[in-house]
Amino acid sequence: KTIDWSPLMAEKGGYKHFMLKEIYEQPRAIADTIAGRVLEEKGEVYLEGLDLSATELAAMEKVFIIACGTSWHAALVGKFLIEKHCRVPVEVDIASEFRYRDPIVNERTLTLLISQSGETADTLAALREARGKGGKVAAICNVVDSSIARESHGVIYTHAGPEIGVASTKAFTTQLVALFLFAVHLGRVRGTLDQAQGRAMLDALVTLPRKVEAALELDGAIEQAAREYMGARDFLYLGRGNQYPIALEGALKLKEISYIHAEGYPAGEMKHGPIALIDENLPVVVVVPHNDTFEKVISNLEEVHARGGRVIAVTDHTDPGLTEKSDAVFMLPKIIDELMPVLTSIPMQLLAYHIAVLKGTDVDQPRNLAKSVTVE
Ligand code: G6P
Repeated sequence: KTIDWSPLMAEKGGYKHFMLKEIYEQPRAIADTIAGRVLEEKGEVYLEGLDLSATELAAMEKVFIIACGTSWHAALVGKFLIEKHCRVPVEVDIASEFRYRDPIVNERTLTLLISQSGETADTLAALREARGKGGKVAAICNVVDSSIARESHGVIYTHAGPEIGVASTKAFTTQLVALFLFAVHLGRVRGTLDQAQGRAMLDALVTLPRKVEAALELDGAIEQAAREYMGARDFLYLGRGNQYPIALEGALKLKEISYIHAEGYPAGEMKHGPIALIDENLPVVVVVPHNDTFEKVISNLEEVHARGGRVIAVTDHTDPGLTEKSDAVFMLPKIIDELMPVLTSIPMQLLAYHIAVLKGTDVDQPRNLAKSVTVE
């Protein structure tokens, strides 16, 4: 029996939704973000469209990263990368806030805009604000020749390919990769990273696509978990450091497509409020890779468990205490801590996706949301 494929089904390449197709495209999309930009031996990065000289970049005293929505979560991860490896202060802001607060920008300020579409009205206005004050402006965009790309001094394209699902997936993870490339580049030109350090970071980067592929193998287990937790009214997502933005992104994905209320919180801040919400009806997604704050996050996880909360742990480390106190554990491959947010994003996307599908929502076009918000 042959199947009649509608043009739309063909576009989705056999996947039920664009979102799922785009989730599965990530190994390829990330490889495309990296392609031609890594000089592994030299420990250097080549960013063809950046158009800001090494001298200009080395002179920067302050970096702003400005974005909206999911792109803002990428910005929050970017702050960790750039402050750690380039030793320059980074301030992250939401575009609609930045544009109206008379930000302090001068010629030694670099404002980095992140926008998948390159057309978000608030982000474009923030760009004009920073440029108008005499600052240098660069953008991380997916859509080639978009307004934000055109109006910036330099641009780093993510090359993720068209993203159709309203909930951003491959655009987000490729933004994280672009930020990583930018941080290595900036660190090398500023002299805060030497050749060996640059090379070690790039060696890890080139392994990322196949580790994302391995992370996608969690799909079946996550679908099972989705069945178990789809009835919850609220979700809490916890993470620390560079995983706090991933907790925010996990919560946003779930809200956007399943309409379940969800909050992302820095794990250490839980005791100042959200802990009051914990009972046996609250699933808590804890993002806990084996890094410097592993033990800290484990104690946060124990606090949830002790109050009857249902723990869904996302980790890369087998730990008896963790297994014992979690209702579900999703195990990821290991990679350097700087790239771990890319891997922890995958279970966030899949969990939101499967819960939404089970609830029967319009996954690719959730109510009230637009792919690109070109008005204020
Ligand atoms: C909309 C989309 C989000 C996106 C945000 C920023 O709200 O629904 O998925 O993250 O805009 O879009 P941008 O194109 O600027 O990244």
